[in-house]
Amino acid sequence: MELFIDTADMKEIEEAASWGVISGVTTNPSLVAKEGKVDFKTMIQRICNLVQGPVSAEVVSMDTEGMLKEARDIATWSPHVVVKIPMTWDGVRAVKVLSREGVKTNVTLVFSPNQALLAGLVGATYASPFLGRLDDAGHDGMAVVGEIVEIYRKQGIQTKVLAASIRHPLHLVQAAKIGADVATVPFKILKMMAHHPLTDSGLERFLADWKKVTG
Ligand code: E4P
Repeated sequence: MELFIDTADMKEIEEAASWGVISGVTTNPSLVAKEGKVDFKTMIQRICNLVQGPVSAEVVSMDTEGMLKEARDIATWSPHVVVKIPMTWDGVRAVKVLSREGVKTNVTLVFSPNQALLAGLVGATYASPFLGRLDDAGHDGMAVVGEIVEIYRKQGIQTKVLAASIRHPLHLVQAAKIGADVATVPFKILKMMAHHPLTDSGLERFLADWKKVTG
């Protein structure tokens, strides 16, 4: 399972990129808004240059024509750009056209296997089930991710399952076990992945003992 970072914060992206474990970035309008008044195109191009991997940038139009206009523009910003399209019928129509044109897409706000099936049928590059938001609403988000993985594999659909709305490190273990292709992870949770109290205490002990050797 690949790891993407789910943020528009350049410092977080820089630090996570320096660890060598992230291969892409996802942004959304809310994450971009956290950075204040920014030039969206410049921001996305900077991220693409740094990461050199798939970077999702979302359209804000609600109708197919508007989405297509935005998507075709965004797609010229960098060869690494993936255009994020919301899971609506207008979005499905737009993804069908964009797939034919060779524009990479990430269908976002996916909450059911049926929605994911539609995204797959129109040739989306990624489909993003928001498992944390499903959990928040009292559903089993990981079960939905599992169903999507199963459907795609059984139906030979090439769309990658991008587990999104990750809330804690256990989500990542479960997403990897269930067969998600990618998980997009907030910086705070990425950081947690490397930590274990037994690693800390073990290292402390090794260093203390080593002092006895070196005097
Ligand atoms: C994915 O692409 C989204 O940006 C993200 O995972 C949404 O997560 P949230 O539910 O924490 O906002």
